[in-house]
Amino acid sequence: MIGLRKFSLTLLIFMLVLTAAACGNDTDAKPAAGSGEKYSFKLAHITPTDHMWHKAAEKFKEELEKNSDGRMTLEIYPASQLGSEADMVQQISSGSVDFGLITAAYMSSRAPAFTAWFAPYAFEDLKETNAARDTEIAKKILGTLDDQGLKGLDYLFAGNRVMLFKDKEVKKPEDMKGLAFRVTPSPPLQDFYKSLGASPESLPLPEVYAAVQTGVIDGMDMDLDATITNKYHEVAKYGAVTNHMVWPSVAIMNKDKYEKLSDADKKIVEDAIKTAADYSANTRASQEEEFKKTLSDTGMKIYEIDQKLFEPYIKQFDEKYGPTDPLIQEFIDTFRK
Ligand code: BEZ
Repeated sequence: MIGLRKFSLTLLIFMLVLTAAACGNDTDAKPAAGSGEKYSFKLAHITPTDHMWHKAAEKFKEELEKNSDGRMTLEIYPASQLGSEADMVQQISSGSVDFGLITAAYMSSRAPAFTAWFAPYAFEDLKETNAARDTEIAKKILGTLDDQGLKGLDYLFAGNRVMLFKDKEVKKPEDMKGLAFRVTPSPPLQDFYKSLGASPESLPLPEVYAAVQTGVIDGMDMDLDATITNKYHEVAKYGAVTNHMVWPSVAIMNKDKYEKLSDADKKIVEDAIKTAADYSANTRASQEEEFKKTLSDTGMKIYEIDQKLFEPYIKQFDEKYGPTDPLIQEFIDTFRK
């Protein structure tokens, strides 16, 4: 009797060991969706919900939630709900917010290498710009955030920059002389317009419409998306589609939180932001003609200015900013044809 009991017990232990071994050795099975941890993430950005960056944030959310089988959720705070970009970056580095889509214009004030993206006329079109995300130099620039408690994940491009004029059809750079021009408060952008002879005015977006309407400013540096969503065609008669500078937002994450993710979860986050960034640039590129037509239909004169006329100003920019930072110089050397 004792012999039979001993035999049954041994058989049971043997079967348990076999089952455990089969479960543990899962390398050939379908890869698990990350670590099993649950995450409720928050993301902040400044644009209204009809801007491409918000749509890209929604794409990021969709991808994160799908690829983690619902373990990762994302709450999006658009339209500066959490404050200015300076406030948002502070919240991300302290960890109260996890992700941000922050303009490279603002990031360049914290990490000067981001200035490189404002080298005028560095890219032919949005497709070429989007491809630049995958270059070594683009990644090195993201890496300069490492010592600020931030992980630079990727870049999201919406429309390139254009110039809008209240009531003067500017046909060449010299026509800009003396114009009061709204330019984002970022030194490389302001310097470019100063070199053209304009007087840059640093106005936040919500004040721009009234400032053109009342004649406080004669025009603005903008993108076509924001021109339509903010109805600047009601107050500016001329739109020069110069596409003279690109306009990335930088996807950033709290660095500690990034580093604590398992490798599989890091990949889920990285893949999701990559899909969102491709979605942003590709969708926006396909809308270019439609946006120009939408604005023409409102009565705004949409036209181009020959890029060759800007060559002396491009050279001035490169000569001023290249020597300020080896990464800016490497960017210029990489992308200038
Ligand atoms: C701007 O300040 O010009 C701007 C900021 C975010 C998106 C589009 C435009």
